[in-house]
Amino acid sequence: MKVTIFGSGYVGLVSGACLADVGNEVVCVDIDSDKIELLKRGEVPIYEPGLDQLIHSNQQAGRLSFTTDVAEGVEHGLFQFIAVGTPPDEDGSADLQYVLAVAAGIGQHMNSYKVIIDKSTVPVGTADKVRARIEEVLKARSQSGIEFDVVSNPEFLKEGDAIDDFMKPDRIIVGTDNPRTSELLRALYAPFNRNHERVIAMDVRSAELTKYAANAMLATKISFMNELANIAERVGADIEHVRVGIGSDPRIGYDFIYPGIGYGGSCFPKDVQALERSARSLGYHAQILEAVEQVNYRQKEVLFHKIKSHFGDDLRGKVIALWGLAFKPNTDDMREAPSRVLMEALWEAGARVQAYDPEAMDEAARLYPSRDDLLLCDSPEAALKNADALAVATEWKLFRSPNFDAIAEALSAPVIFDGRNIYDPKYLKGRGFTYYAIGRNGG
Ligand SMILES: NC(=O)c1ccc[n+]([C@@H]2O[C@H](COP(=O)([O-])OP(=O)(O)OC[C@H]3O[C@@H](n4cnc5c(N)ncnc54)[C@H](O)[C@@H]3O)[C@@H](O)[C@H]2O)c1
Repeated sequence: MKVTIFGSGYVGLVSGACLADVGNEVVCVDIDSDKIELLKRGEVPIYEPGLDQLIHSNQQAGRLSFTTDVAEGVEHGLFQFIAVGTPPDEDGSADLQYVLAVAAGIGQHMNSYKVIIDKSTVPVGTADKVRARIEEVLKARSQSGIEFDVVSNPEFLKEGDAIDDFMKPDRIIVGTDNPRTSELLRALYAPFNRNHERVIAMDVRSAELTKYAANAMLATKISFMNELANIAERVGADIEHVRVGIGSDPRIGYDFIYPGIGYGGSCFPKDVQALERSARSLGYHAQILEAVEQVNYRQKEVLFHKIKSHFGDDLRGKVIALWGLAFKPNTDDMREAPSRVLMEALWEAGARVQAYDPEAMDEAARLYPSRDDLLLCDSPEAALKNADALAVATEWKLFRSPNFDAIAEALSAPVIFDGRNIYDPKYLKGRGFTYYAIGRNGG
């Protein structure tokens, strides 16, 4: 089948490569010409495990190509995926300008029936707006007779596991009121749907809301556990015991209840905010969502407060080794990463940061070019050299079982601020460390 994907970011590239890998002919369109040039040369602009290889093999087989030419993209695919960004507007609502620009481009160049698929995370009612924009452009071209359908097919992939998530999805949400389109989508997704039925068909608005509901639920679990961690600290309990204690209840489960220094990334923060703003615009005060957001905002500052209460308010002259910059392991994505809040607060207080991340070093250099108070190091050990303490912001596997003797030797004093609870407090205490974690042993 012929597929066009607008937007060559995390979602567009993974969807494009996976759809090509099962035999489809895929054209990816992006307005960023540097990115497209890179991709044409076989370079992949993001880090996602396995993605390089998947793109290369399908590019070489002639099933996957890249272009900035909208007309070429619209001409190519029966399926026209919209996978562009939906960043927050000034007031936190989703900014639909990129989605609607793609819709206008499709309307401008469309000459036959197309299935337009909203894969971007978009507020309820967006499919109607996409339809209206296309109709408007077709009318201006005196081509109102050309048929098309707009489907909501939100994406649930997780960065770091994106290819597996796309190839073996938990669910394939197809939101359409038209049985013909539903069948076309079923056929497109059939290769990913062999093991058992994963397509969940519903109306467009419910599909749009399902994506926000999923992200809001996951963000709620995180903020809930972080709230509990802060209480545990104050009452002298250990949140890690509490986590295991409640996770054993199958109604609660062990997944996604890790306390830490808040959620980041390109999805949870903006999606919780957008859902809350969208409810507010309809006169409904979504109190849980508001609290989830506020708790997360506060949680991102927790490690900095621990550092300040250890060293005092004035951190001038202090050097903090920081392990982990990406918002979570197995990605180079630093959008809304807790590490950024921590670094910026440390700089504000006069401290310097020596940072290491297995994948996000280039991204950090891009975000914070030429700062005297940031040293980007090429190994975890290099980051420790002459630092006054180690802070851990991302739970990369590499950081989980380090050589603690070497850490103690490299630091001016053996102090660790663990924002992800990856170490054992008793073990570290036994080795002479002052150890701060989240929600454990009085913090
Ligand atoms: N990143 C994730 O893990 C994830 C998971 C599920 C859903 N989503 C949602 O998917 C959407 C895309 O997210 P992402 O992380 O891939 O974004 P991204 O920022 O990585 O990529 C978006 C791409 O769209 C391109 N673009 C913008 N306007 C365009 C246009 N008119 N035509 C063609 N390309 C255009 C940009 O240049 C960029 O390359 C968002 O709505 C996001 O919320 C993301």
